[in-house]
Parts: sequence; C-alpha cells; structure tokens
Amino acid sequence: MSLLIKNGVIVTAMDEYQGDILVDEGKIIAIGNNLDSKADEVIDAKGMYVLPGGVDQHVHFSFEFNGSKVRGFETSNAAAVGGTTTVIEFVNQIKGKGLIDTIDEYRKENAEGIAMVDYSFHGIITDPSTGVYDEIAKLPEAGYPTVKLFMAYKGMFFHCDDDVIAKSMQKAKDAGVTIMVHAENADLIDVLQKECVEQGNVEPYYHAVSRPPMVETEATERAINIARLMDAPLYVVHVSTKGAVDAIKRAQDEGLPVYGETCTHYLTLDKENLAKSNFQGAKYVCSPALREQDDIDYLWTSIKNGWLNAISSDHCGFNWAEQKHMGKDDFRNIPNGAPGLENRLGVLWTAGVETGKITRSQLVDLFATKPAKINGLGDRKGHLGIGYDADIVIYNPKVKSTISNETSLQGVDYNSYEGFEQIGRPEKVFLRGQLVVDEGKYIGEKGQGEFVPGKPYGLCYDGIKK
Ligand code: URP
Ligand code: ZN
Ligand code: ZN
Ligand code: ZN
Repeated sequence: MSLLIKNGVIVTAMDEYQGDILVDEGKIIAIGNNLDSKADEVIDAKGMYVLPGGVDQHVHFSFEFNGSKVRGFETSNAAAVGGTTTVIEFVNQIKGKGLIDTIDEYRKENAEGIAMVDYSFHGIITDPSTGVYDEIAKLPEAGYPTVKLFMAYKGMFFHCDDDVIAKSMQKAKDAGVTIMVHAENADLIDVLQKECVEQGNVEPYYHAVSRPPMVETEATERAINIARLMDAPLYVVHVSTKGAVDAIKRAQDEGLPVYGETCTHYLTLDKENLAKSNFQGAKYVCSPALREQDDIDYLWTSIKNGWLNAISSDHCGFNWAEQKHMGKDDFRNIPNGAPGLENRLGVLWTAGVETGKITRSQLVDLFATKPAKINGLGDRKGHLGIGYDADIVIYNPKVKSTISNETSLQGVDYNSYEGFEQIGRPEKVFLRGQLVVDEGKYIGEKGQGEFVPGKPYGLCYDGIKK
C-alpha cells in the first residue's frame, strides 16, 4: 500500500520546507514537490507540520522498586498517541542469568505480540558473576548495543559501584557498546536520607532534600573521570542540574566523548510539586529529584546550545493509590519514577517551540533524530529521509487541549502534567506507513510494534576511530 502525504511543512533536525512524502511498503521512497498522486492513499497535510516519529530512549516498562513493578508494553499505545513510534526499554539482568538471555526472554514474553510501537532494549548489569563483562562484546550481535549502570539506589539489586562501571567501559569500548549511567552519589544520598528520617522528616518533599544537586554533580564528574581513565565514551541519562551539565560540557570541551540527555519533567516541573499536600507530592518522586527554576532555565540553555543531546520521558508508571503509598510513612519507600511517555511531544512543543526557547528543528533533533543515532537506530529511525522507516507524525499546531489523566492511555492513576494547557497535538501518526493514530486517537493494533535491533558504535563513538 502506497501513501502520499502532501502539502505539509516537513521538519527535520536540519531544516524545514514545504513538500510531499511518498511511502511504500513501510519506507519513505520519495520526498519532493508535486509527487505522483496515484498513491493508494493521499493525505493533505496543509497547515500541519510533518515530523519524524519520536524515539523515546528512556522508558521503563519493567522497572521494579522494592518488589513492585510498573505498567508494561500493554500501555505502549500511549507512546503512539504522543507521537513516539519507537521506545527503548531498560531490562534488568536476572541474577545468575546472562544479559542477552535475560533480554531475549523478556522480549519474547513481554514485548512480542503486545507492543504497539517499535522497540529496542538497553541492558542493565546486576550480576557480574555470570561473566557479564565478557558478554558485552556479544551485545551488538544480539541487537542490544547499550548498557545502563546505576550509581544511585544504594542497597538495591541494580546498584553498582565504580568497579563495575570501569570494567564495563573497558569491554564496551572495543565492541562499540555505549555505557549509560544514572549518576547520583548513592552513599551521600543514604546519609542524607537517614538524617531526614531521624529528624522525623518523612514526607515526599524530603526525597528532594536528600538528593540535592551536588549528589548528581559529584557522580557525573566521577563517571566522566572513569570514562577518561578507561578511554571510553559515556552517556549520562536524565541530567537535571547545572553542575552536571557543566561537567559534561567541560569534558566535551576537552574533546572527550561524553554526552547526556535530560527529560521533559526536568524542563517543565519544579521541586515545589513534591510539597503538595495529602501525599500528592509522591506523584513527583523521581530520581534525580525535580529542581528549582535556575536549573530548569539552565537545562533549556543546554539543549538549545547542544550541550545535552536528547530529551526522553524516563516514563515509569507506578500507581499512586497503591504503589506510591508504600512510602506513606517514609519517603524512602516511595517507588521512584513518573509516567510521561504520552506527553513528551505535546509538552515540549508547547513549552519549548511555542515560547521560542527552541526551534522546531531542534525539537525534532532532541525528540527523534539524536536519540535514534545514540542508540544505533539512526539508519532507520528518527529522520524523514529516503530509505527511512515511514514513522511519521502529522502535528496539528491549532488544536488546544488540557492534559488530563481521564483520557490518558498510560494506565496509571495520575498524570504529572495534569491541567497543562497543550498547544497542538499529533493528529495522525504512522508506524512504518500504517496509520496508528487518527484525530489524536489510537486506532492501531496490539502487537503491531516490531523489535528494531540497535547497531554498535552509536553517536557517542562519533569522532573515535573504529
Ligand atoms: O526515578 C526514576 N527515574 N525512576 C526510573 C528509574 C531510573 O532511575 O531511571
Ligand atoms: Zn555502592
Ligand atoms: Zn535512572
Ligand atoms: Zn529511568
């Protein structure tokens, strides 16, 4: 089935122009003006922006906190309505099992036949005893060329110390595998958390008090130092504070292959949300913690100047009524993470593009193009070009709406952006040429998403001899 999208303004990371896009067998086969209108289906996108489908490289469909798990791929249609057509999910290595076997099995049981957008995976090392360092060399062959390591969360099964980072990087650099770190100093957080609790400060707000910006800055600097020592690339996930950005920027100025992302919520939500009464603050407990306005402003400057390279959702769907309430009497037991997969594009368009903070092309770069490249999907995803997958969003800039959990597909009992006045929406979304969202509504089918293997030597290896 061929498809022609006519008269829209095509936005790429480099430029925008009026044009038509011709799609056949799920791929973009031509871009130009006055393209052949004998396509099986012709869509007039006049007055609309035509964007590449988003790539959300930081999604948790299986995260576990104190034994409690988030919602999974059965809610991935939330990505589609939000203009995201590829998600990259973090999978924890099962103790005693290899990383590849863990992800292969997870993929079969939890994603295949269920996912409603395309998907790829990052591994998380939890058990070095399985020979996992040697396994890193084999990750690219399996299509999983990225690994996340948690410097934070002392005492949890996925926390790791610096030796794990160093040893992983040593193996990763020869295989083109990208090491990603969650950079927060777990020991310092532990000290500050205990201090809060001893003083009777157990409310959600103390989550932020016990995770001040410096614990993130310190860990980011340390991760950079380890990368420098190991002569390996580094990718820092969910950067939230000025000190961490500056550390990354200094490394870049030195010529080191150090990159980072931030998330929608760090650009738009502040720390005061954690002080909301009646335990509402728990909805905003995520790590790193939400920050104050000066950090928020600095993050906008950072994405505008290219110091950070991507914006992800860090979607992590815990329910408030039960799961967040595990920490009713002690903020340390509140599962960390918040949903946001569905709102990344609409919120960033409104808060970034409509305010003039970033251009449409910059948004496309941060939302789709760079995330695809960072994760080795850059030859198929994240760009509107000939030969690319026809993952296309037709964005209607005229529709105004108020974000409400009532209409959300995320399957969680709250939305972090409740009441946010959104400008524009993904009107139609195509996944490899198939219409999965129409008039803002999901119309696709369960299982329509496919696994997309990542390739090694992603963007963080640019500038390094292969
Ligand atoms: O609080 C967060 N970010 N939860 C998800 C897990 C992680 O640390 O990325
Ligand atoms: Zn430790
Ligand atoms: Zn994290
Ligand atoms: Zn995360």
